[in-house]
Amino acid sequence: MDDGGDLVTMLHQQRRDQLPEIIGGTEETTTGVIRLHSMEANGVLGYPIVAINNADTKHLFDNRYGTGQSALDGIIRATNVLIAGRSVVVCGYGMCGRGVASRAKGMGADVIVTEIDPTRALEAAMDGFRVMTGKEAATQGDIFITVTGNKHVLRPEHFEVMKDGAILANAGHFDIEIDLASLRDMAPDNREVRPEVREFALGGDRRIYALSDGRLVNLAAAEGHPASVMDMSFANQSLVCEWLVANAASLEKKVYEVPTEIDKDVARLKLETMGIRIDELTTDQKIYLESWEQGT
Ligand SMILES: NC(=O)c1ccc[n+]([C@@H]2O[C@H](COP(=O)([O-])OP(=O)(O)OC[C@H]3O[C@@H](n4cnc5c(N)ncnc54)[C@H](O)[C@@H]3O)[C@@H](O)[C@H]2O)c1
Repeated sequence: MDDGGDLVTMLHQQRRDQLPEIIGGTEETTTGVIRLHSMEANGVLGYPIVAINNADTKHLFDNRYGTGQSALDGIIRATNVLIAGRSVVVCGYGMCGRGVASRAKGMGADVIVTEIDPTRALEAAMDGFRVMTGKEAATQGDIFITVTGNKHVLRPEHFEVMKDGAILANAGHFDIEIDLASLRDMAPDNREVRPEVREFALGGDRRIYALSDGRLVNLAAAEGHPASVMDMSFANQSLVCEWLVANAASLEKKVYEVPTEIDKDVARLKLETMGIRIDELTTDQKIYLESWEQGT
């Protein structure tokens, strides 16, 4: 079962009597998995759950290429903005952020990354992006895209210094990554200027445009991820359901990783659908890799 969290929360809060009937569940998203780990740590998780998001064949592709492409698709459909030559600020350099940053770079944007994690920030810098604080980026960006799973990543201190015409979009967690409640307070005379685009008039003739009321722009203003990347996520979900049923007797009320065999199977199946063949280890290579006596 995966529903982005609502059903899981409802079951655990209002229908606890039904928890024993559930064999197991699956969780698709990054943020959902974080919540489930917290439920497990607090001893309230009612059945085994498999973290689909953590499978390589999920987050390396769905989050990176799916969100990367569809977030930009949503922004373009909503605004018809030209990405080339614009400063695009990507807040969060996780799997989704990498995708958004690389797609935006590919379209000719000057990409700026903001992070709170030093390793991710370093990676972004070495991937060739400008990395700076949110406050600095706020003064430079034309288009801001939040993909952090966090709240209020863009907030009044940023709105106050943004350029006229700045576009704000969220492709991360629900509608709280951009503090739109505060933006509404700062600009009570906001108006919808075209579908999915709300203009907030700030002092000094500055206008800021927030897309899709801060909800996931790739779902609200575009069509979400293409089927040809979701197929891997859903293949993980269905194969894991079979695995849950087969292993029900031995599973505990914990968050499990997707078994590696399933993850690799999904990759193999996907390659097959793409007509791509890869090499296999020779017997000699297998022995070499497994031994500790050979080689250096
Ligand atoms: N739009 C979609 O269709 C879609 C698809 C997949 C995931 N998601 C969601 O997108 C979000 C990100 O997913 P991910 O897989 O990239 O997660 P991730 O954990 O790999 O990356 C999130 C990054 O954001 C950084 N971060 C956290 N707070 C920050 C802040 N205040 N400023 C700057 N950076 C900050 C973290 O350090 C981390 O590197 C999650 O909420 C996830 O559920 C959305």
